[in-house]
Amino acid sequence: MTDLASLFRPDLPAPADIGGPTRPFAFVGGNNDPDSVPFAGLAEAAMTVMTREGRNLATYNLGGSALGYEPLRSFVARSLKDRAFTDCNVDDVLVTSGSLQGLDLVNDALLSPGDTVIVEEATYGGMLSRLQRRGVNYHGVKVDANGIDTDDLGQLLERLTAEGTVPRYIYTIPTVQNPTGTVMSVERRHALLDLAHTFGVAVFEDDCYADLLWGADRPPTIRQLDQADTSRGNVVVYCGSFSKSIAPALRIGYLVADPPVIAQLLGLKTDAGTGALEQMVLAEFASTHFDDHVDQLTSTLEARCAHMVDAVRREFGSSVTVDPPKGGIYVWLTFPEGVDTATMVAGAAEVGVEFNPGAGWSADPVWGSRRLRLCFGNQSPENIDRGVAALADVARASSSLV
Ligand SMILES: Cc1ncc(COP(=O)(O)O)c(C=O)c1O
Repeated sequence: MTDLASLFRPDLPAPADIGGPTRPFAFVGGNNDPDSVPFAGLAEAAMTVMTREGRNLATYNLGGSALGYEPLRSFVARSLKDRAFTDCNVDDVLVTSGSLQGLDLVNDALLSPGDTVIVEEATYGGMLSRLQRRGVNYHGVKVDANGIDTDDLGQLLERLTAEGTVPRYIYTIPTVQNPTGTVMSVERRHALLDLAHTFGVAVFEDDCYADLLWGADRPPTIRQLDQADTSRGNVVVYCGSFSKSIAPALRIGYLVADPPVIAQLLGLKTDAGTGALEQMVLAEFASTHFDDHVDQLTSTLEARCAHMVDAVRREFGSSVTVDPPKGGIYVWLTFPEGVDTATMVAGAAEVGVEFNPGAGWSADPVWGSRRLRLCFGNQSPENIDRGVAALADVARASSSLV
């Protein structure tokens, strides 16, 4: 008797977990504060836009451009100008089904098995797993409080070039880096671009947390600094998302690049269009409420972050380092030499705590093994206190931590 599962390709990733019980202290994933979802405003926007344009749902892409709902692309272009000093035309924007689809499209366009890319030493686990699945090699570059260390980047590019390898791109999360919460300085942005042009390497700028910066204005995007210098071509493809600023379940992200690049990426997008209802509602809501909403959300997250940092310092003491992030929804903890945070996973689960061990968020899993990431975005202050205390007990029991 043939069983369908036995007929699958042999090189598939592990089957997905189709939904076990959620643990009470789930400090994993990139979830957001449920009380901050602007559902009343979204509902009102849905009613308005459906009444006005609902008939257009009868046609793929609402009868408009395959790049996405035009008012949403206009909003993205306006908002990049207002919030990040970035010149952007409506046809430079391709709406995607979450920025994850954006990552896939860029990877489809640029990567073949055996290629090499450069990432930050601590980076987005969802990108690392994508690269692994494609058989793409990656090298990590140091990150400090000012973002990617461009001296280290320069040395790596020299070394790879001497070995005959031209990396396909440098992947960076410059503004509120995941997981470190740092922001790349403008000087470093320029230095990174100079290196990219000197070595003939593309830059993949993933800015999906940029709106969640607090205490400072957003710096200009790397894409803007690149296009402002007209003495050379443009090497940056930019990626953004509404997952962190509005809600991850909406699944709306976008890519921004020069029109020929966007046309090529669109040629790889075979889904007959990103969900139109979400695009319409978002555009209607965001055109009048985005800035107010983001102000309110970031002040909630800033307070929650301070609570998390306090809890970590109180419960773990000085043996664990946590640098307060400049925005976003995560803290990144560094443990002493010899600690492996992966060994805490099972014990943490028993007391209802989930966290992301650092190895999965690091270019070098050995370097990452004494680190871990906690998401505070969707956790109440009480949960943060109780969950962090429980995790600290587990850490002490499973390591030499005092
Ligand atoms: C750096 C980074 N890029 C992309 C994504 C994917 O986000 P989405 O597909 O929800 O836009 C995430 C999600 O956490 C992320 O952290």
